This record gives sequence, structure tokens and C-alpha cells, in this order.
Amino acid sequence: MSQRRKIYEGKAKVLFEGPEPGTLVQYFKDDATAFNNEKKGTIAGKGVLNNRISEYLMLRLNEIGIPTHFMRRLNMREQLVREVEIIPVEVVARNIAAGSICKRFNIEEGTPLPRSIIEYYFKNDELGDPLISEEHITAFGWASPPEIDEILSMSLRINDFLSGLFLGIGLKLVDFKLEFGRLYDENDQVRIVLADEISPDGCRLWDVKTNEKMDKDRFRRDLGGVEEAYQEVARRLGILPESEQQDIKGPETIQ
Ligand code: TMP
Repeated sequence: MSQRRKIYEGKAKVLFEGPEPGTLVQYFKDDATAFNNEKKGTIAGKGVLNNRISEYLMLRLNEIGIPTHFMRRLNMREQLVREVEIIPVEVVARNIAAGSICKRFNIEEGTPLPRSIIEYYFKNDELGDPLISEEHITAFGWASPPEIDEILSMSLRINDFLSGLFLGIGLKLVDFKLEFGRLYDENDQVRIVLADEISPDGCRLWDVKTNEKMDKDRFRRDLGGVEEAYQEVARRLGILPESEQQDIKGPETIQ
């Protein structure tokens, strides 16, 4: 990865110039941060697992008609993606109360929400990603009204689909974060696509039977077994890298 031009380095990934115009190589690091960079560490093998998990989920979402930036996985830590203009809004979908919503409204962790809630945060580390409304998004021009409508309807579909997918492997999708981008085609037509990654870094996943946390909260809260939790998610999805030699089994359905 030495000769390629680095386009951007984030907390968990690096973006390099891709082999063709309009493409980027997304490299997954083992670095982990929490609480807006206050807590730093590494999770051994996380990059390899997140590369696989995100590939798998983006492909499944594409099959139900959600356009994504994902093109193909290149190797253990890298995937080829389409270059998009990232919309500076983090979209969070919540099904069960956990994390910041518990503090904000004094709700006990684990309380099912009356319905799924979509929240928007301004993607700005200096400001600590503040909670924003659709009004801020359209007034400041981060996304147009039709774009935010499209983002909301895609996020609700993604939430429904992924909730079912994870339930099938014995995991509750408590909440998760999405990022979207603008993809310009040859005729300069613009389309909103799902970008970034979907992995246990940006999701809360709890075991259906035990409520055990299987995501980055294990790192945030020093619960131990972080690597094992990420591996277990990949194992249940049927995509553990170790299974490469054997047949890929596909997801292990939990009755
Ligand atoms: P929160 O409870 O801290 O607001 O997080 C909600 C979900 O969004 C959780 O699954 C973690 C994810 N998330 C990110 O991936 N990146 C972020 O910067 C934040 C604040 C949350």
C-alpha cells in the first residue's frame, strides 16, 4: 500500500486512489476509537472481519435494490468502492434504547422503542458530531429536501431488512449508523448511494437469548472479548475468513 496516493485517513479506514477514475480503495485498519477519539486502541483482526462483514451486508442490500458504493473486495483488508461525495450527515437508526438516547431521555438501556427512530448527526469530529434535525440539513445545504427524503426512506428499508437478517442469526439489531454519498454518472446525473461501511464498529448487536453485546460496546466499555465478538458475528453470517478454504456456508439460521 506504499506507492498509492492516500486520499483520506479516518479513524478506522484509509481511502486510496483506485485503479480507475471514479474508484477508491477502502482499507480497513485494526484501530478503534470511541467517544470521539478520547479512547484509542486496536482490535486484532478487526479490519479483516469488518471488510468481510461490510462486503456481505452491502451485497445483500444491493440485492434488494439499495444502491451502494461497494464494487468488490480486493483482498483481506481492502475493497474497491465508487468514489462518492460524502454527505456530512451520520444517520442513526434505533430499535432498542442504548447509548446516547438513554442519557438524553433517561431511558433504561434495553427498552424497546415504540417504533424505529431515525436520527441525524452532523459529521464533524471537532464539534463531536452534534444531533441535528432535517431543518439544519436543508437550511445549511448539507442535503437537499429530496435527498434527505431519499436518505430517510432508504434508511428505513435498510433497518427493516438488516433487522430481519440479523434476527435470522440470533442477533438483535439494536441500532446502527449509516453514511450516504452522491454518485455522479457520466452525464453528471447524481444519485444517492449507501457509502462507508456497515460493521460491528457502527452497530449495536445483542444476542437474542442472552442479550450479550457483540459489537464495539465491548471495546467502549472494557467488557473484554472484543475480537471474539466480531468473529462470532462473522461466523454466524457464514463468512469467517478461515472458512475460505472450505465451502462458504452462508448464514447459520437460528430457530
Ligand atoms: P450512540 O448511541 O452513541 O448515539 O450511537 C448509536 C449507534 O451509532 C451505535 O451503534 C454506534 C453508532 N455510531 C457510530 O458508528 N459512529 C459515531 O460516531 C456515533 C456517535 C455512533
